[in-house]
Amino acid sequence: MIIRKNWRQQKVVFSSKPWQTHRMPSEFSQLLLQWYAHAARALPWRERSDAYSILVSEIMLQQTRVETTIPYFQRWLERFPTLAGLAAAPEQEVLRLWEGLGYYSRARNLHRTARQVVVEYNGVIPSSAAELERLPGVGRYTAAAVASIAFGKDEAALDGNIRRVLARYFNIELSVGSPQAEKVFWGLAREHLPRGRASDYNQALMDLGATVCTPCAPRCEACPLEALCQARILGVQEARPVRRPRATIPHYIVTAAVIRRSGRVLIAQRPSTGLLGGLWEFPGGKQEPGESLVDCMTREIREELGAAVHVGVALGVYQHAYTHFRITLHAFACTLLEKQEPQALHASEIRWVAPEELGDFPMGKVDRQISRSLVNRTEAKK
Ligand code: ADE
Repeated sequence: MIIRKNWRQQKVVFSSKPWQTHRMPSEFSQLLLQWYAHAARALPWRERSDAYSILVSEIMLQQTRVETTIPYFQRWLERFPTLAGLAAAPEQEVLRLWEGLGYYSRARNLHRTARQVVVEYNGVIPSSAAELERLPGVGRYTAAAVASIAFGKDEAALDGNIRRVLARYFNIELSVGSPQAEKVFWGLAREHLPRGRASDYNQALMDLGATVCTPCAPRCEACPLEALCQARILGVQEARPVRRPRATIPHYIVTAAVIRRSGRVLIAQRPSTGLLGGLWEFPGGKQEPGESLVDCMTREIREELGAAVHVGVALGVYQHAYTHFRITLHAFACTLLEKQEPQALHASEIRWVAPEELGDFPMGKVDRQISRSLVNRTEAKK
């Protein structure tokens, strides 16, 4: 194995296997790498080459745009500069730092990965895609991205942007997401990978997909692959990749209770697995068919906390879209009717907290909005 530095002073590992060095880079990958040499985006994780930073960036970038990720990545490395530091942190602090990025299982899995690497690999992140893929929250794409970017391994990565570039350049007519299409995409990505240049090749494809070969109105005139792009030649670039029609996503009406007592407010922690796992919320839940909002609120608190409430004034209406459904949430000021203490019947834990302490508890977007308006209202009264 020969290690050299490439144009950005990164380590590049050249394979010494003769059957690999004989293969010429394809025109596709040559054009791509030439373009990347001057068009690569300056991104904070590209200034770092340690595997921990690359792993953090790739986990954050799953389902999240680059612009959204940047400030989170920077804050993360300030607070948890090392994998050992992350492994030693309490989960609540990890979730609080992740708050606003969504898909919180990523944070919990990254935390578990850090702990697993400390125990199983003596704190050193493994370099092979196969070993990386066995870590929590690391799938085929992320394993390949980390192995290629952090360790120079010849692994092709395939994300949404890359699928789109390939679908257009090679005019793939198979439905994206189908097993046949997946086979074709992974095959093409691997076949065109220039040996020893996987890091640049993968990231060039990501950048081209994000900045030029965009889902709508692609900027074909600015594309280094334009002359050879099969979809462009046929004028079907906007119809690639072929997508199955999306199922309409359900919409739920939800109620949430702001229950106050002696200057404190009641919050509940969601179970550690599933949607918003481990995060805190104002208790409540989904409206059932034919039920009024007040009835829904009363029933939810009875079911969740074993307590009877009087539903008071409406505090606000909030909209939010999750991956597979969207909600309209109605928040109400509620008061407990009996002396009976609320219990955590469904939640992991419930707590009475002062409004100024709410910021210490990780929450999803809507609950944070409710929490902020509560803090503002409390401060305005002072
Ligand atoms: N999306 C996922 N990984 C990325 C990376 N390393 N650079 C740019 N965009 C990405």
